[in-house]
Amino acid sequence: MSKRAERTSEVYKDVRDFYDGYGWKSAEKNDCYQAEVLHEHLNETARAYMKSNEMRYSKYYGDGGRLFLDAGCGAEPRREMSSAFAKCVCADVSLVGLKESRKKLKDSGLYVVADLAALPFKKKSFDGILVSHCVYHIDKDLQPLVIRELYKLAKPEKTILIFYASNRNLVSVFQAVGIKTYKLVMLLLRLVRRKRVEDEKTPPPLYYYIHNPFKLTRAFDEVDITCLRILTRWETTALAKLKLLKLVVPLLSFLERKFPHLMLYIGKYVTIRIRAQ
Ligand SMILES: C[S@@+](CC[C@H](N)C(=O)[O-])C[C@H]1O[C@@H](n2cnc3c(N)ncnc32)[C@H](O)[C@@H]1O
Repeated sequence: MSKRAERTSEVYKDVRDFYDGYGWKSAEKNDCYQAEVLHEHLNETARAYMKSNEMRYSKYYGDGGRLFLDAGCGAEPRREMSSAFAKCVCADVSLVGLKESRKKLKDSGLYVVADLAALPFKKKSFDGILVSHCVYHIDKDLQPLVIRELYKLAKPEKTILIFYASNRNLVSVFQAVGIKTYKLVMLLLRLVRRKRVEDEKTPPPLYYYIHNPFKLTRAFDEVDITCLRILTRWETTALAKLKLLKLVVPLLSFLERKFPHLMLYIGKYVTIRIRAQ
């Protein structure tokens, strides 16, 4: 097996193990999953902010249709996004995630354990496709192929939405500085106390790789990339601690809706919208 193929299958296995063994297990205190606690701030304002930002893209699915594909749905299928479709096909590597999805969608869903790089569906089968926060957990060299394969599964003129991320924005720059400062402080503390200072209980590592979304999708004719949302967990938590979240969210939501392309340079998460031909 080549080095590249080895890495690809290692990433696949690690991500599956992370979600099966940790991410899609219930968190102890909250009524949610461990992956959510790890990746999102979960108060009411933050949840409403995330949901409304995603839902503003549902208009691109038009009147819906027969089959919707929620690729990499894990335990969080986007029920509202697929409500205009007769059936929602949930595909993921995580069996634990799919079992949770089945509890939510019941008979309106079909559940398939599969790798997004090798989905077992016929070309042009789907009337709408969503890939939410999944592609950046796929090996970096495979991500372009996965998007090309998903494109083939969409019927002509139908929409593929990919919730992805970007590193070329203000939030990412602040985060990079924040992480470096944190690491430096931890190192200094270790030196001062002359013993290992443990970080808070560390969860298992999870692979991710963020390409430049414009380069990632340059092969497609009809593609539009806009800001999905500005805030990630870190800024949301900081604003909530400062009691500023409720004040800031309406302003950011206004900016995200009014200037979706400009806000790409501020916010971390992006929506890649591709129309199939
Ligand atoms: C961050 S979760 C996103 C879940 C859900 N779509 C959401 O937005 O809340 C990423 C999901 O992608 C799945 N995943 C990662 N790599 C995959 C692959 N190669 N094939 C299928 N699913 C994959 C993981 O198992 C996990 O359930």
